Amino acid sequence: MLNALESAIMEKGIVLEDHILKVDMFLNHQIDIPLIEQMGRDFYDYFKKYEINKVLTVEASGIAIACFTARCFGVPVVFAKKGSHKNVGDNVYSAEVYSYTKGKTVQINVSKEYLNSDDKVLFVDDFLANGAAANGVIEIIRQSNAQLMGVGIAIEKGFQAGGKMLLSSGIDLYSLAIIDKMEKGRIYLKRRELC
Ligand code: G4P
Repeated sequence: MLNALESAIMEKGIVLEDHILKVDMFLNHQIDIPLIEQMGRDFYDYFKKYEINKVLTVEASGIAIACFTARCFGVPVVFAKKGSHKNVGDNVYSAEVYSYTKGKTVQINVSKEYLNSDDKVLFVDDFLANGAAANGVIEIIRQSNAQLMGVGIAIEKGFQAGGKMLLSSGIDLYSLAIIDKMEKGRIYLKRRELC
């Protein structure tokens, strides 16, 4: 049986060229709140085995998912800011993230005030493709001496390398939907029991 996100992807997702899945109608532009709320509960159900005290994400599309997840844990969200914002200050952890999809590198920053060695962190994001954003966040967590407890991804593109990379580093990765392939406008999900 499909979960709420998988159903939304199959009903409303649109395959664009270059293996890009457009989910603007419920995730990346317009946000379906009951769906995101359910996704937050699904992440909570999986990751509640850990004592998580902070949910970390990257602006912009990860924030809504992170908020509903954090609400279940009763903890705050910290989101990495992109670019060199003056209002983040100099007192930041930073990493460079190359976006394969967008063809550019951005810097992501988290203020040292909001991440430290006491933190047990769940990283949540909307998409996992090559894992560049995840690597950047892992680098920031390393700089802060916080502990990464797990990675929760809404949509993993199973045909790109990010998922395998995280799993092979021993990271507890949980993706709500894994796209096996996209072909001639059709979306093929990886069957859950095979995950
Ligand atoms: P990676 O971090 O896993 O390596 O992914 P990649 O560089 O390919 O992704 C860069 C941006 O493109 C990310 O958004 C990611 O969420 C988004 N993205 C990747 N694949 C898809 C896709 O198939 N569909 C959609 N809709 N987005 C995709 P971002 O730059 O962080 O932007 P945003 O969070 O501000 O939206």
